[in-house]
Amino acid sequence: MREEIEIGIREAIPTDAEALLDCLERTAVQTGFMTMGEEGSGLTVEEESQHIANIYDSPNNCLIVALIEDKIIGMATIHASNKPKIQHIGELGIVVDKEYWGFKIGTELLQEVLDWAEASEMINRIELKVQKRNERAIHLYEKYGFELEGIMERGVKDNGEYLPVCMMAKLI
Ligand SMILES: CC(C)(COP(=O)(O)OP(=O)(O)OC[C@H]1O[C@@H](n2cnc3c(N)ncnc32)[C@H](O)[C@@H]1OP(=O)(O)O)[C@@H](O)C(=O)NCCC(=O)NCCS
Repeated sequence: MREEIEIGIREAIPTDAEALLDCLERTAVQTGFMTMGEEGSGLTVEEESQHIANIYDSPNNCLIVALIEDKIIGMATIHASNKPKIQHIGELGIVVDKEYWGFKIGTELLQEVLDWAEASEMINRIELKVQKRNERAIHLYEKYGFELEGIMERGVKDNGEYLPVCMMAKLI
């Protein structure tokens, strides 16, 4: 039987910077599925704090975090341009600390970020890239209506191996 855990889900605020960088650095090396690796983000806490503040104030960018008390254990992001011709396109990113996989945290983060996008009235296309071998993430995206638009052969190189990457999108 699985233990019950209490998870908070909310938009990130600047004081989350340190916990967010911790989470990013932890998760970057847990799987080969993240674009960032052991090189880390290279950002200081101050820089990350400013970055979060910019996202918080933006109408078409968002950063949602999942927390257990003060520890960030997952996040979902929508990144969009401020160029008028493409400001309706949000690029989705999502990660959950491997220790907490299978507790529906990824599902909750995705639901939250989709609700945010709908409410934004600005984002009406969400796109993402996911490695073809990442069946768990693809299952999640398909369940929420994302469709495959193409495959990038040699879309990523992990441990010296070139791997195909799926381009998926959902119109909202
Ligand atoms: C993808 C990720 C966010 C999912 O997080 P999670 O909290 O474990 O997700 P959930 O518990 O909400 O749901 C997982 C779903 O995948 C399913 N699943 C688990 N293993 C699977 C597999 N090998 N193949 C297909 N589906 C699988 C589960 O049954 C569940 O689906 P269901 O709700 O329909 O039963 C998490 O695995 C992660 O952070 N991975 C590393 C980073 C990453 O890959 N990000 C996406 C890059 S684009």
